[in-house]
Amino acid sequence: MSRRQIFAGNWKMYTTHGEAMALVEGILAGLSGVKDREVIVFPPSPWAKAVAERCAKTSIAVGMQNMYYENEGAFTGEVSPAMVRDAGCRYVLIGHSERRHVFGENDGEVNRKVKAALSHGLEPVLCVGELLDEREKDLTDEVLARQVNGALEGVDAAGMKKVIVAYEPVWAIGTGKVATPEIADGAHRVIRRLVGERFGEETASVLPILYGGSVKPDNIAGLHAMEEIDGVLVGGASLKAESFLDIIRVK
Ligand code: PGA
Repeated sequence: MSRRQIFAGNWKMYTTHGEAMALVEGILAGLSGVKDREVIVFPPSPWAKAVAERCAKTSIAVGMQNMYYENEGAFTGEVSPAMVRDAGCRYVLIGHSERRHVFGENDGEVNRKVKAALSHGLEPVLCVGELLDEREKDLTDEVLARQVNGALEGVDAAGMKKVIVAYEPVWAIGTGKVATPEIADGAHRVIRRLVGERFGEETASVLPILYGGSVKPDNIAGLHAMEEIDGVLVGGASLKAESFLDIIRVK
């Protein structure tokens, strides 16, 4: 089964406007000849529109790192799905572990955001993953089931075709401790089985599942070689064009 191969960069709360534009220029300059894989960048929200305008008619797609689920209203500091669209974004990260664990987002909010994204024509990149403590207590499969089922409650099969899942074990994010390819592959298998149970084998078999957590040029090859790993969501190593390009160009 050949699935989409997706290389995504999450810039988190890094980059000035100038740095963001230079980074995108650097990535674009190195992408010629890259044909069989998709590239997405998630800049900080104030730069999303400028980055999206620069990336229009190029091979880079742009996404927002987060959004709220309401259409509009008195929600100071939040960004609506329509605003994400208006900024030129095609994708939106939903339920990133920093949203869950720093800002206290729960599965119910993640679910509302996934549905809001889909109803506005956005393609959600749903992030799931266990804490170190949960892995050590052998609760990973249970946590993934709760997060995947919770996030996809009320989503229909047509909606599911627009969803990408990113498996990001919390203990591997920003820590330099990458999951072994076997650990990631195993978790991806669990996620694909859960999606298959809800939406059927056909939908599950084409779902792109990305791995995220300390992906670097020197560990991408092992991850990329795994059957269940359909790409990566890269934080720190996506902030320099050269290291992101080294990851994207993995053989
Ligand atoms: P990292 O972040 O690559 O810096 O570990 C990944 C992520 O949070 O998406």
